[in-house]
Formats: sequence, C-alpha cells, structure tokens
Amino acid sequence: MAIINNDNNLLSDTAIELLGEKFREFLTLMTYYQCAIMEVETKLNVLNEEFSLQHDRNPIQSIKTRLKSPVSIKKKLESKNLPVSVEMMENELTDIAGIRVICSFPEDVYTIADALLSQDDIELIERKDYIANPKPNGYRSLHLIVQIPIFLEKKKKPMKVEVQLRTIAMDFWASLEHQIKYKKKVNNTQEIATELFECAELSAQLDARMDAVRKKLEQKTK
Ligand code: GTP
Ligand code: MG
Repeated sequence: MAIINNDNNLLSDTAIELLGEKFREFLTLMTYYQCAIMEVETKLNVLNEEFSLQHDRNPIQSIKTRLKSPVSIKKKLESKNLPVSVEMMENELTDIAGIRVICSFPEDVYTIADALLSQDDIELIERKDYIANPKPNGYRSLHLIVQIPIFLEKKKKPMKVEVQLRTIAMDFWASLEHQIKYKKKVNNTQEIATELFECAELSAQLDARMDAVRKKLEQKTK
C-alpha cells in the first residue's frame, strides 16, 4: 500500500499547496512507516526461507501488514489526551506500523521472534508475552515493539514497528473474538465471555498437542 503512487501523486506541488505543509509531513511519516514494515517483512521472509532449507517446513504460514488508518491514529491520540500532531504520532504511538506473523506451531513463534531480535539493527522496545501469560479473556499472542532503521537518501531514521506473532489456532480465536466483540446487540455477554475463554483454552491444548505430534515425527525422521 503505497502512500505516494505515481499515477496520482499525492505529494505534487499543487496537492501540497492545497493541503498544507502539515499534510506533507504526515504523508512523509506514513511512508517511512511503510518502509519500516517492508524492512521487517523482508527479515521475516528471509528467516522463513532459511528455516525451510534447514528443516524442510515453513515456520511462518502467513504475514499480514497494516498501516494504522488516519482515523484510528486520531482516535488513539485523543484517547490518550494528546494533541493530534505528526510529532505526537511519532513520539507517542508505537503501533502505526503493524505486522502480524502467523506461525504453524507455538515453538515457531519463539524461534522467529528470537531470531529477529538477535539481529544487530533491531532494537527491542517492548515485549508482551500473552502466550506465557494470556489475557484474562483468553487472548494469546507474542507482541513485540521493535525499532528498526530505514535508510533514506541523506539519513538513517529509526522507526517503531509492532510485531504480533501467533499460531494459526491463536489467530483463528483472535479473529473470531474480534468479530464477535464488535457485533452489536449481544445479550448474554458473561456467558459469551466464558464460552470464548473456554474456546481459547481448548485452542491452546490443540496447539500443545500438535506441537507434541510434530516433535515425535521429527524425532522419528532423524
Ligand atoms: P492498545 O495498543 O491501545 O490496544 O493497548 P496496548 O498497547 O496495551 O495493547 P496490547 O499490546 O495488549 O494489544 C495491542 C493489539 O493486540 C490490539 O490492537 C489487537 O490487535 C491485539 N489484541 C490485544 N488484545 C486483544 C484481544 O483481547 N482480542 C483480540 N482479538 N485482539 C487483541
Ligand atoms: Mg499497543
């Protein structure tokens, strides 16, 4: 998703005159975040390729990326009682650039996260392990906020990216829970919350059993 595309150049002189300098700053920053996403995504793809050469299977099932929408950026700054400005976006928000990595097995989540974090141009800003410590509603994922430099013509700029790593089962649960949460007219909320929590537990058990089966098979084929 390019912010600037050649067919419809949002940064043309006329557009900037019309929309103002602040808008150009906003678009520039969003483009930098998009570049940071590309950098991290490439690193993940490289790790996936290397792993599949060594182990004959892909630890990463899929990667989804997203830039936070201007509306969500505004809402988040307002919810923190901060002024809506490009400076605040850059200094106060850590999830404008987002990458979701869906792995096959729980162990792969940690293998990929550790390999990414061991790279010398990646700095860990924050790590939340909701797999070891699930949220009370049952949500599981490993969240990392990392800082990565992007190399521009005249400078190197460190950018923050939020990386969420989870298994297919964790992603399945989180996607459905998200859909249900945003459905209106929910009558029996407590009952649904309990049901969802139990589904999360079942899904974690399934992950653990599948991981055990994989380990057994790998031992046998050694
Ligand atoms: P926010 O970034 O404002 O959400 O607060 P935070 O930084 O404390 O959040 P956290 O790192 O715990 O979670 C950030 C993101 O993880 C969310 O935007 C969601 O994408 C995802 N997430 C966290 N909790 C849940 C949950 O209970 N259900 C689902 N479906 N997703 C969640
Ligand atoms: Mg967050």
